[in-house]
Amino acid sequence: MQASLTLDTLHHTGDVDPRIFGGFAEHLGRCIYEGIYDPASPHANEDGFRLDVIEALKKLRMPIMRYPGGNFVSCYDWKEGIGPRDQRPAHPDFAWKSIEPNTFGTDEFMQWCKLAHTTPMMAINLGTKGAEEAAALLEYCNMPTGTYWADRRALNGQKEPYGVKLWCLGNEMDGPWQAGHVPAEEYARRADQAGKIMRGLDDTIELVACGSSGRGMSTYLNYDRVTLEYCWDSVSYVSAHRYSQNHRNDTAWFLAEGVEIERVIEDYAGLFAYVRGMKRSNKRVYLSFDEWNVWYKNHEADGKWQKAPHLLEEIYNLEDALVCAQYLNAFIRRADVVKVACIAQIVNVIAPLLTTSTGLLVQANYYPFQLMAEHCSGRSLVPALDCPTYDAGERGEAPTLDVSATVNDENTLAVFVVNRSQTETIQLAVSFPDASITRILGVDTLNGTDPKAANSWENPHAVIPRHGNAHLDGGVVTVEIPPLSFTALRGKLELR
Ligand code: AHR
Repeated sequence: MQASLTLDTLHHTGDVDPRIFGGFAEHLGRCIYEGIYDPASPHANEDGFRLDVIEALKKLRMPIMRYPGGNFVSCYDWKEGIGPRDQRPAHPDFAWKSIEPNTFGTDEFMQWCKLAHTTPMMAINLGTKGAEEAAALLEYCNMPTGTYWADRRALNGQKEPYGVKLWCLGNEMDGPWQAGHVPAEEYARRADQAGKIMRGLDDTIELVACGSSGRGMSTYLNYDRVTLEYCWDSVSYVSAHRYSQNHRNDTAWFLAEGVEIERVIEDYAGLFAYVRGMKRSNKRVYLSFDEWNVWYKNHEADGKWQKAPHLLEEIYNLEDALVCAQYLNAFIRRADVVKVACIAQIVNVIAPLLTTSTGLLVQANYYPFQLMAEHCSGRSLVPALDCPTYDAGERGEAPTLDVSATVNDENTLAVFVVNRSQTETIQLAVSFPDASITRILGVDTLNGTDPKAANSWENPHAVIPRHGNAHLDGGVVTVEIPPLSFTALRGKLELR
């Protein structure tokens, strides 16, 4: 089968914000304990941080890391996680019915971020706490010494402020499962009060208001609208969350997930334009898609009051990896709307990495993220795609290919393609009316014949990328796109 992708270097949606390649680490299951912090592991450094996990994460080039939750944050008292370890109390965690030992807290997270080459995106507790606690945490993290909480930070070993730039005003406050869940009107007031004080203490920070926790919520977009109308002047972003599911075990249907992801982004673009118009404002608010992934196989949320219980340890297969690639494709295409995004999560809990005390398993969904984070750079080109469609069941006819493309100031091109077809190889011709592709810099493909193929401890390389095929002729690249695949093509352009 043939398809064509026409790109124009002048037709773009703006620069891709590298923060769309963010991660998320929650005090949940074995994400923090045994995932990033495991003093008993032979892979831990003297501070207890898993170096093998850090090395694997560095390759994902995550510029930001959301922390400490998630549902966890809505009952969290950050003050219990600082100071001498032997004086920190253990507490039951309402969200995941686990025991939180508090041996890893704000200071450990900041140190870990440095080692992992990432920066913190902190969430505050707006469930059981409020503006006062949030202001104290902001003071602890960002203010120079000379005041109570800043001095406590210095006492705990960190004189210089951490300078955290990005702050989430709570988590999923629209969800009845959330500790301290309230209607939008009340959340908006809480968020605005906390946000105003935080920005009053440090006006360099940016704030993310909670939006909807999913499109299935009855308050979808309305919760977001009420919040945004009230908090318009204090916030820079509204958050969206989505977890993709294939409960019906229908690969053709599942692989059209990108169409729905794009719809969510469109919904928010419309909402932002509406509120901006109502307010006659020149300000822009953007989307922080700060929880996204595939998650449906392992929903066990009861930690049975254990420390570091095995929860949400999802296994990722090829079809899941192809859906993850479509999330990133959609974020890249809508660079004008999505400025921040976090894969949920990074290790052990719905994550591309799994650990035992001695081992590290890299899952299939790691690879599209790695390739895209490495090669996506510059402006997001608007793809004019001419490709066959296929029958995606209840989702109707869907394009067989899902594509995004970027070009940077060095004229380096990156094209990312998912082939949703389970049977058809597609020869995709990539061309520009205003440029020639003069060199192919690389082609990597993740593919297979079995959508359920997954890496395992016994067979850790069942789903890994290999070099793909492409040829250059007269300034046009034709790249072979196998069925059930993700492909990352890189090339050099010469402008005409
Ligand atoms: O990422 C797992 C959970 O999913 C988070 O704690 C919560 O925000 C969401 O519902």
